[in-house]
Amino acid sequence: MFKKIYIGSDHAGFLYKEKIREFLKTAGYEVVDKGCYSEEPVDYPTYALLVSKEVATTPESCGILICGTGIGMSITANKVHGIRCALCYNEYTAEMSRKHNNANILAMGSRVIGLDIAYSIVKRFLDTKFEGGRHQKRLDLICEAERSQQ
Ligand code: RB5
Repeated sequence: MFKKIYIGSDHAGFLYKEKIREFLKTAGYEVVDKGCYSEEPVDYPTYALLVSKEVATTPESCGILICGTGIGMSITANKVHGIRCALCYNEYTAEMSRKHNNANILAMGSRVIGLDIAYSIVKRFLDTKFEGGRHQKRLDLICEAERSQQ
C-alpha cells in the first residue's frame, strides 16, 4: 500500500526507531531514516518536521514518529499541511486511524508501550486501508479548514 516509509525519533524514541526500521526493512519496505542518530538529547519538533515534510510531498509514502509519549511528535506533525498524524497506543487505534482518518503518519511513545506492541501497531497501521465513503467527506472538511487558515 505505502511504497516508502519515512521514520524519525528524538532521543527518547531512538532505540525503538532503530528496531522498527530494521523490522520494516526485513519485511521488505523501503525505509528512509531521518534521525535522530543517537540517544543524545535533541528536540522532537526537528525530526517531526523532517519526516512530515517528506510525507506531505512524496506520493504513496507514510511516516512513523517516536518520542517518549508520542505527544510532541503528533502535535508537531499535524502542523504540516496535508499531514494526518495519529498517536496510537494499541492495534485498534492504529487500525481506526487508517480506516476512518486515512492517517499518513503514525506516532508512538516509547515510554508508554512495549516494543512488541509497537511492532504490532506498526504492522496494523501499514496493513489497513482507508475505507473512504462517509469518511472522505470528513477528511474534506479537514482539508477545507487547512486551506482557510493559509
Ligand atoms: C523528551 O524528554 C520528551 O519530552 C519527548 O520525548 C516527548 O515525550 C515529547 O512529547
